[in-house]
Amino acid sequence: MRPADTRVLLTGATGGIGRAAADALLERGASLMLVGRSPATLSEMSRGLVHRLQLAPDRITWKAVDLTQPQRLGVLAAEAASWGVNVVVHNAGTPAFGAFESIDAARMQQVMQTNLLAPMLLTQALMPHLRTLPKAQVVCVGSALGRIGLPGYSAYCASKFGLRGFAEALRRELGRGPIHIQYLGPRSTHTAFNNDAVLAYNLATGTSMDEPAAVAAALVRMIEDESAECFLGWPEKLAVRLNGLVPSLLDGVFTRHRDALAGEAPTVNPDFRGSR
Ligand SMILES: NC(=O)c1ccc[n+]([C@@H]2O[C@H](COP(=O)([O-])OP(=O)(O)OC[C@H]3O[C@@H](n4cnc5c(N)ncnc54)[C@H](OP(=O)(O)O)[C@@H]3O)[C@@H](O)[C@H]2O)c1
Repeated sequence: MRPADTRVLLTGATGGIGRAAADALLERGASLMLVGRSPATLSEMSRGLVHRLQLAPDRITWKAVDLTQPQRLGVLAAEAASWGVNVVVHNAGTPAFGAFESIDAARMQQVMQTNLLAPMLLTQALMPHLRTLPKAQVVCVGSALGRIGLPGYSAYCASKFGLRGFAEALRRELGRGPIHIQYLGPRSTHTAFNNDAVLAYNLATGTSMDEPAAVAAALVRMIEDESAECFLGWPEKLAVRLNGLVPSLLDGVFTRHRDALAGEAPTVNPDFRGSR
């Protein structure tokens, strides 16, 4: 779809990738419904965008919603439908990094509800509206870690593998109907999502990081070209393919990641430099 023809419901709008995505989409003519949890942050962000990009105020609206509250998702879907949404970008997400035994039950639940269940339930609530349109797109912002299981990311990978499976299955279920489901897999990106422990792990493993604007540009391209999946970065793109074909081939290449996770000195093995 041409960005200028889109009315985009953007979750995670107040985060690093969300803010870059909002900029990129608005610059290409889209109208946005921004979603985050803080009314103050959303209202300040909207005012700032209108002022900085010299927009008509009706190009942006916002809704403060905690996406882990299932009862709020139906209300959000109804509001987005009456606003005329035709593109949904499930971008809100929450991290979980560390040895699996250190991730407590509450964090696991938060990760699964935010990264997986919320996009599924919101998509379902929006489908009656989306299927009435000539064309609609649902973009799930997953991760390269929706294709590559990486030490330190067991719970996060579970959520993003789940999201990718959801997107793939629903795309096939909906076939040639008006609703097209897409999956974007960024690699590690410079945002507040990554704490100091992740930055140290990335440094120790030689993991490259992108800027949020690169992810936003890929998102805009996906909305335009309607591709089913897009993964960012090298060697992540290769690892995604290899892992899809013969996952056991990669099992032996994560020594450096295990060492970094355990706080040990990285080994000098020529490991695959996988990342988020
Ligand atoms: N950064 C990376 O390295 C990286 C790499 C690959 C994929 N990703 C994915 O990219 C997406 C965006 O990441 P980011 O780096 O921009 O993260 P971020 O800067 O931490 O922003 C996270 C966004 O999600 C929202 N959010 C979190 N929990 C929520 C909840 N319960 N209800 C409503 N909104 C909630 C936050 O809103 P509040 O203002 O309410 O906090 C914020 O807008 C995520 O899905 C992430 O998994 C990130």
